[in-house]
Amino acid sequence: MAPNKRANSSDIAASEQQKLSPCGLPIRKIPGSYGVPFFSPLRDRLDYFYFQGAEEFFRSRIARHGGATVLRVNMPPGPFISGDSRVVALLDARSFRVLLDDSLVDKSGTLDGTYMPSLELFGGHRPLSFLDAADPRHATLKRVVIRLAAARAHHVAPAFGAAFAAMFAAVEAGLAGSSGGPVEFNKHNDRHMLDFTCAALFGGAPPNKAIGDDAAAKAYKWLVFQLHPLASKAIRPWPLEDLLLHTFRLPAFLVRRDYAELTAYFADVAAGVLDDAEKQADDIPRDELLHNLVFLAIFNAYGGYKFFLPHLVKWLARGGPELHARLAGEIRSVVSTDGAVITLAAVERMPLVKSVVWEALRVNPPVEFQYGRARRDMVVESHDAAYEVRKGEMLFGYQTLATRDERVFERAGEFVADRFACSDDGERRRRLLEHVVWSNGPETGEATEGNKQCPGKDMVTGVGRLMVAELFRRYDTFTATVEEKPVEPVVTFTSLTRAAAAAGHGGSARA
Ligand code: HEM
Repeated sequence: MAPNKRANSSDIAASEQQKLSPCGLPIRKIPGSYGVPFFSPLRDRLDYFYFQGAEEFFRSRIARHGGATVLRVNMPPGPFISGDSRVVALLDARSFRVLLDDSLVDKSGTLDGTYMPSLELFGGHRPLSFLDAADPRHATLKRVVIRLAAARAHHVAPAFGAAFAAMFAAVEAGLAGSSGGPVEFNKHNDRHMLDFTCAALFGGAPPNKAIGDDAAAKAYKWLVFQLHPLASKAIRPWPLEDLLLHTFRLPAFLVRRDYAELTAYFADVAAGVLDDAEKQADDIPRDELLHNLVFLAIFNAYGGYKFFLPHLVKWLARGGPELHARLAGEIRSVVSTDGAVITLAAVERMPLVKSVVWEALRVNPPVEFQYGRARRDMVVESHDAAYEVRKGEMLFGYQTLATRDERVFERAGEFVADRFACSDDGERRRRLLEHVVWSNGPETGEATEGNKQCPGKDMVTGVGRLMVAELFRRYDTFTATVEEKPVEPVVTFTSLTRAAAAAGHGGSARA
């Protein structure tokens, strides 16, 4: 980028009145319009969910406005759930960064975008994720979470090792069983990652034992009651789905019993964390912290793994035997194949494994949408132009486009397994990682009490690395089919080929 050169461009020569941004970019009116109240937000919702799909929804509007990547659009769900669907969309890597600057945006109540779920779903409290960074309660709650994540870091690898072993024992049994059919990864992921999340964060009996086989279904139901206005292609025909999921809020009382059961479970397994917060005089009522811990474990952590791991395994499946062989070679040169726990320190020494995980988080950020209200009048700069935004306007970023910006990443739309593995140029890698922002902050940054970055960031990259390392320590290669769905890709294993040493005698399971 060469801002000063732009300041001398012909635009300015043509009009001395042309206003310029601090970097010398011409300030333009934000293109796009919100249309006719009620009808246009409704029409945009149908385009977004059914007639175009999210990516085409934005790409077609960028094309309609001459390539501008800062646009006025209506974001779903619209009437009658959203109070106001009007947003300024930031669709390139540069303008998107405004959303990561807590001095510029107020994120109070913006987690789910243009609507706020009923507080009845959270025991009447507003969880940390819905608090702005400047809210004093944010710092108090985040301090507890940062402390918890640090204290439990050494439980992540053993807990993940156990979850992986259980998950893949079940996948292998399915492939080898009498029906011998293909085995869906997502179902096993949903079940075992809830147990993993609770074991890693709190220890104690996993939900699957304490609550029962339907623990993950109960957790999922509670997530649906929060996120249904953003879901699609779950119910047919689509007009019925639109009416049921996008027009009115599902009443919270329908999930009250499940939520009470989940809360009782956390009151028990997280008793130590609750006691500790009281001892440390963290100044949070026990009940409020308990509901925050439910949100932390099920929405923040489990909800994240539910989307992230299927995308990661999807890219591994598409990478094929050549990538698998390179990964297996790297992993087995660092860890033994005797089944001992793979540690976070061990995966730190695996550049290709680390690169694959960052690349999956770049191409498919598990949380695709970020929102925040402008704290003041300001100028937002994209690559070629700048735009004035008024205080109070809702800014929205579609991260999937921001992290696939060709102006930052070469071959940005492709999955390049060793993009971040170029060990000879650490500075170049650091510059690229600045633009990997799945955690609501740069990969080079850190979660603090005063920002909105995910405090589980290192746990998440750690789990991704452990998943890849465990897979290719145990298997030489695998095959799977992938069906892209709006919520998460469905990955179905069709074969797993055991590594000779790991199997003891070699072997493979096939559908
Ligand atoms: C794959 C898994 C995960 C993903 C994709 C993910 C992603 C995110 C994102 C995008 C945000 C910012 C949301 C926003 O304000 O726009 C966030 C916030 C948060 N995450 Fe994570 N996260 C994951 C796992 C975890 C884990 C394991 C923890 C537990 C320590 C955690 C705890 C939190 C908390 C407490 C916040 C709110 C931070 C704040 O408001 O300052 N997350 N996460």
